[in-house]
Amino acid sequence: MRLDRFLSNLPQFNRQDVRHLLAGGRVRLDGCVHRDGRGEVRIFSRVEVDDQVLQAGKPARYFMLHKPPGVVSATEHPAHRTVLDLLSEPDKQELHLAGRLDLNTSGLLLITNDGQWSRQVTAPARKQPKVYLVDTEQPIEAAYIEVFAQGLYFAFEDLTTLPAQLEILASHRARLTLYEGRYHQVKRMFGHFQNKVIGLHRVSMGAIRLDADLLPGQYRALTADEIASVLG
Ligand code: URA
Repeated sequence: MRLDRFLSNLPQFNRQDVRHLLAGGRVRLDGCVHRDGRGEVRIFSRVEVDDQVLQAGKPARYFMLHKPPGVVSATEHPAHRTVLDLLSEPDKQELHLAGRLDLNTSGLLLITNDGQWSRQVTAPARKQPKVYLVDTEQPIEAAYIEVFAQGLYFAFEDLTTLPAQLEILASHRARLTLYEGRYHQVKRMFGHFQNKVIGLHRVSMGAIRLDADLLPGQYRALTADEIASVLG
């Protein structure tokens, strides 16, 4: 919500008061004086008028989790353990996932209480690269590279996937970079060649890379640079 709207919604100020407070340099948003009302107030923002704190602001929280296979990417589930069960954090009900992984997929999962941030992570228009390690039942042929680069037609959604990069690492193992996140996308892409994916692991999303020493089930807070990389 805009700062002027936030202030004039409070019972103690009318619109004229708000104009005066702003013009007088008496309003601070996250510690900075704002003289016009266009600043954005979020649940994480601190808003002060003179020495009075009108909103203290909730701490924004951002985590990377090494999701193990067999744990569901949801905040609650009747049958399976969820990724939130792996976090020892207060107020877990305020957290949500910035993107999901299938039940048997492992790797990088981002978890936050900042909805604006997670929308940026998952916004299709941003075409953030997502890198996966893929293990398959059958050998991976060189011909897949061109087909994935051209895009595959998904009849159910009536769309062609964005060009994806495949790097063959071994006869049954490849690194795949996608710029979108369609339902079961990796499995369906390999399924085009009747090649079953038997292991799938997400290594990175945008500039955020899963730590090599973060074991399955472990998590850590993101750094300020990692958080900012999504908004940049
Ligand atoms: N593609 C899949 O098929 N599964 C995932 O979990 C992620 C991408």
